[in-house]
This record gives sequence, C-alpha cells and structure tokens, in this order.
Amino acid sequence: MNVLFIGDVTGKSGLQYVKEVLPKLLATHDVDLVIANAENSAWNGRGITSASVEFLYDCGVEIVTLGNHVWDQKEAQELIAHDDRIVRPANLPVGVPGRGYTVCSVGKHRFAVVSLIGRTFMGLSDCPFRALDRIVDELGHDVKHIFVDFHGEATSEKIAFGFYADGKVSAVVGTHTHVQTADERILPKKTAYLTDVGMTGPKDGVLGMKRDVVIQRFLDQMPAKYEVADGARQFSAVFITLRDDGMASSIERMYITE
Ligand SMILES: [Fe+2]
Ligand SMILES: [Fe+2]
Repeated sequence: MNVLFIGDVTGKSGLQYVKEVLPKLLATHDVDLVIANAENSAWNGRGITSASVEFLYDCGVEIVTLGNHVWDQKEAQELIAHDDRIVRPANLPVGVPGRGYTVCSVGKHRFAVVSLIGRTFMGLSDCPFRALDRIVDELGHDVKHIFVDFHGEATSEKIAFGFYADGKVSAVVGTHTHVQTADERILPKKTAYLTDVGMTGPKDGVLGMKRDVVIQRFLDQMPAKYEVADGARQFSAVFITLRDDGMASSIERMYITE
C-alpha cells in the first residue's frame, strides 16, 4: 500500500500548486491514499475553510490533518465537527469539536490517520506520547495501518516521539516548521519516519509569508499583518510504502519546485 502525504499546504499559492502537481504524481505513482496537512490552506494561510478543504478533495486529497492553526477560521469549528475526513490534533483539551483520528478503508485494510501536536515551543496541550498509546489501544488489533502527523516545532521532540512510536504505528511524519528535513528513514521496528515534510506553497517567502513584512517585524518588533507570498512555488511531500502487516518498507521524500 502506498501513501502520499503533502506537507502544510499554504494559502492560495499552495492550493493552486497542489492542483498542478498532484494529478501528475497520481498519474506516475501508484498511490492508494492521499493525505495533506491543511492547517494553512485557507486563502490567507490561516486555518481551514470549507472552500480550502473542498479544493483539496477535488485535487485528490482524501484525508486532511491540522495543527496549531486549527481554530483560526470561525467556520472551522462546525466544519471539523461534521467532516470525518478532517483530523485535528488528538491531544487538545477534552470536549473540543472534531476527532483526533479517523479510520478509513484502503483496499482490504482499515487505515487510521492520527494528528498530534507537540509541546516544546508550542501552546499548551496534553501529552502527545500518552495520547498515542491511548489511540493505539482504542484502535485495537483490527487496525494495523496507523499514520501519524506529528505537528511540532522541536526536532528533539519529534525524533523522541518517532522512536517512542516505532513498532506501534506505520509512519510518523512531522509538520509545522515548513522546512523539509533530509532524515527520512525506516526506524528499527519498521516505522517510517521524517522529522518534517516541509511546506507546499510560496518558495521565496518566509515559511510561505511575504518576506518584507517578516523581515520588518524582526527589525522593529512592531505588529504587522503577514500575507501569503506570491511567485515561485514548492511542493513538499513524502511517499511511503506499507506492508500488509502495517509496517513500512520504504520512505521517499519529495520536493518539487518551479
Ligand atoms: Fe503550518
Ligand atoms: Fe503549525
């Protein structure tokens, strides 16, 4: 089974580049499931809207994960509550709308997609390590294919989590930093791992935002509104092959630009 995961799709630029690149990839690769982190997919790069997730579904994305921008748009609460293709971090406070994981069918297999958020240099959340154990327990023996998007800032927390999850899940891929790391590997107990998939969207901004505004904010430390950058784009993704027993046999990092 082959899974394609697309890193933080950012704003109008990211959405439009997914529309351009994804159909070509689907034509050349045998892909059974497409997942995308959509936490920045709203037109302005903040959160999700029904238009941004529908756009991604139309491109071929089947499951959407989120991160710290989960509640940025007002309409997100209802959207997340009612669409079971959208997964928000599982370790948010108890009782918030939506689900921390979703289970779908991929061929003859039950496939779980889990979203977790880190705690190092991030907002407050419950322990993602213990949240993973709870979810793996809930999924039971019927679900062997478990894909985790770990949305975190610190490489140390992500690597520690990868080893903690090794052998318990099929894959752990990181998101949030918007910068792709080159450490893709199969961990000793056959979990595919990558610290950060990177961002899909404007290539020449700062993490997808117009660079002049970001530079000015560093210079004068005064508030200024970030805007999604224009210009050349990049597509950051990871392609993972899983065996019938749920463990990974290969992981390939993808970075496409124009
Ligand atoms: Fe992001
Ligand atoms: Fe994020």
